[in-house]
Amino acid sequence: MKILGISAFYHDSAAALVVDGKLVAAAQEERFTRKKHDAAFPERSIAYCLQRGDVGRKGVDAVVYYDKPITTFVRLLKTYLRVGPKGIRSFSSAMPAWTREKLWIPYEIERGLQRIGTPMPKDLWFTEHHESHAASAFFPSPFESAAILTFDGVGEWATSSVGVGRGNHIELQRQLNFPNSLGLLYSAFTYFCGFRVNSGEYKLMGLAPYGRPIYADAIREHLLDLRPDGSFRMEMKYFNYLSGLTMTNRRFADLFGGPARKPESEITQRELDLADEKLLRRISRLLDQGDILFEIGEAQERHPGLLRPEELAGAADDEILARDLETVGVLEDHLEPRFRGIGERLFEQQIARALGRAAADASPQLVELR
Ligand SMILES: [Fe+2]
Repeated sequence: MKILGISAFYHDSAAALVVDGKLVAAAQEERFTRKKHDAAFPERSIAYCLQRGDVGRKGVDAVVYYDKPITTFVRLLKTYLRVGPKGIRSFSSAMPAWTREKLWIPYEIERGLQRIGTPMPKDLWFTEHHESHAASAFFPSPFESAAILTFDGVGEWATSSVGVGRGNHIELQRQLNFPNSLGLLYSAFTYFCGFRVNSGEYKLMGLAPYGRPIYADAIREHLLDLRPDGSFRMEMKYFNYLSGLTMTNRRFADLFGGPARKPESEITQRELDLADEKLLRRISRLLDQGDILFEIGEAQERHPGLLRPEELAGAADDEILARDLETVGVLEDHLEPRFRGIGERLFEQQIARALGRAAADASPQLVELR
């Protein structure tokens, strides 16, 4: 059975082809069009996958689109209903793309396939956004079973989810909903530091090694409310993404020493410190102090049918982990507590610097730079 997977109309459109359960080709549209984050219907990627998989005139048996657009649309409408008239500008800037293409995905897919010259199959399926994220990590992994955590900006409603994968089956069991989102929090800092959301996050990561961890407490105290079950709420009075065209507002600026950096202006120590906060402290400290990820791990234990936290951590086999650490030049004393040791070494030593610089300076398309 030949199944074509498509993601399109948001950012980084892509296609993948699975034949009889095996991934035979996958490609991102920007690699062909040379348009960064190209969000167009991924015609060239699809054509490449079909050619690579020797899909003839009969075409594929099914197409899967990577999320459920109608549910996302309902989320948008409900959000605008909630915020009322102050969301009008954001509403009117978002709607044209919806009425033009996002609401007509089956039609857009059919038209796109027609242009490539391959027939539209009878079956068109829509998976949930976080199911797609989970599947893209679990199915190609070498593990027969694993606990799955997803963290994202936002899908339909979910911004992160917890589930379990076994064999060829994935079940997501709990989720955290919009507007509470670690991904959007990261994007808020990306925006505030003067970079484009859904694009400049990598630049922010590139700045991370040069900052100082001076904003940790402000983030913990004001922006996040961590709950004992591993979930969290964001203090929405500091953010503008529910109703406005920006990610953050005046209160956020007051908390972090003045207005957001203007794009392309000089980068100051403040941006470096904010970048540091987001990458290093957020990850290593949250793991370290038993916050978000660890709490979720513990919640897994209480939830019947899920893997225990030891298994969650053990998903990365000790030996493989030790070998990987050695490969990248990090000596590991012992792996317990795993998260802390790995987090500290990976993020606070040379790897973060090396990756940061690579992310800022290098094109990942050049094989010799990988
Ligand atoms: Fe996503």
